[in-house]
Amino acid sequence: MAVIAQKCPHIKVTVVDMNAKLIAAWNTNSLPIYEPKLDEVVFEARGRNLFFSTDIDANLIAADIIFVCVNTPTKTHGIGAGSASNIKNVEACARNIARVCTTPKIIVEKSTVPVKTGEAIARIVASCGNGVAHSVLNNPEFLAEGTAIDDLWAPSRVLIGGSNDAAVEKLVSVYANWVPRERIITTNLWSSELSKLVANAVLAQRISSINSISALCEATHADVDEVARAVGMDYRIGKYFLKSSVGFGGSCFKKDILNLVYLCQSYGLHEVAEYWNQVVKINDYQMKRFANNMIKNMFNTITGKKICLLGFAFKKDTGDVRETAAAYVAKYLLEERASIAVYDAKVSADSMFEELKYTNGVDETTIPELKKLITISNTDVYAAATGAHALAVMTEWDEFKTLDYERIFGLMVKPAFIFDGRNILDHAKLRKIGFEVHAIGKVFEA
Ligand code: UDX
Repeated sequence: MAVIAQKCPHIKVTVVDMNAKLIAAWNTNSLPIYEPKLDEVVFEARGRNLFFSTDIDANLIAADIIFVCVNTPTKTHGIGAGSASNIKNVEACARNIARVCTTPKIIVEKSTVPVKTGEAIARIVASCGNGVAHSVLNNPEFLAEGTAIDDLWAPSRVLIGGSNDAAVEKLVSVYANWVPRERIITTNLWSSELSKLVANAVLAQRISSINSISALCEATHADVDEVARAVGMDYRIGKYFLKSSVGFGGSCFKKDILNLVYLCQSYGLHEVAEYWNQVVKINDYQMKRFANNMIKNMFNTITGKKICLLGFAFKKDTGDVRETAAAYVAKYLLEERASIAVYDAKVSADSMFEELKYTNGVDETTIPELKKLITISNTDVYAAATGAHALAVMTEWDEFKTLDYERIFGLMVKPAFIFDGRNILDHAKLRKIGFEVHAIGKVFEA
């Protein structure tokens, strides 16, 4: 919304939310999320044509186009628990719009939704409304965190699904203020909804494919980065999303794949469901394999040993920890009674503990003295490494490439291990310093 406001000064954009604390934070100079370049965009437009408000009803009534951007988490209970998306927040928005709006609105599903949610919204606003004909469009968001602003400024494509041509054209004309027309594609509602799930599933599938091969590389002494390079140079395949890692995270990939799996199952397409489910299974396997490799190489025991995790965010340039591989690995290490010192410049202790509990069920009841066993620093990586038996790279933050590893080596217990879960460090140099280095999909001869 900030980018729409920035690129379209003639359009008034108001972001509304029930959460007054969040809205208040968006109105300060310290925005509630870290995303490169977001500050400059918000500061340019805020107060001019970008506003943040808790007055939901008045702003719905005043709007021509309403973007529904609420979250759709994986269901934790009832039918489809663990795989289907819960669309209760989307439904609540639809009912709110129907209740207060007396003029026709264009309702845009921006949240990633199960296929056919648009139909549900259309039925709700038609049956609970004030007799006005609203239109429902789907406009999935393809931005990636860490590069969100660049992705929005120059999107690979904008996708708009819907059957009301006038409404579609109105939304096209908003994006056309900065996106070339040939990159704005229109389709029907269901294709649009499904395209978002499939885009994320295919991206994640590439990562699981190369991660599965990383295990084979370790067994055969091939090098996964070399394999990815050779494979990716085939222009039909391409080089992106073939970087082997400790596992993919983020709020979208797992959730959207499970959503796709559930959709297939509900249409009786069990083979198709199982095909996509494997993408998630390989990711779980990769995270567990990483933790197991750490334990195995550290003489089969990490009980009482200090381990320093470099990074906790699910990728670099974001403070987001949702579904981060670091939390899964931390859980496995904590279950072995290791102590963990995390260093991540952008992740707060609160969000780390929330994610450990929400996704991994780790709290003081499952891991007694949790807050003593795992700590996080935003400022001092060297203190985090002091007395550690191992460093493990969880996030590919650029700063990890240029740390003073001679100094870190001096601070650690020997043998000093490095487990590079992102393959970003200079392994030869580290081995020269004296580290025992382990990386994904590589074996170093002694
Ligand atoms: C993703 C999609 O890229 C985006 O189009 C969609 O709108 C939302 O979901 P995001 O989750 O922000 O975006 O990050 P992305 O860059 O896709 O990375 C997801 C995860 O995969 C991260 O944990 C990342 O580290 C990992 N990854 C990515 C790899 O392990 N290897 C790769 O080659 C690429």
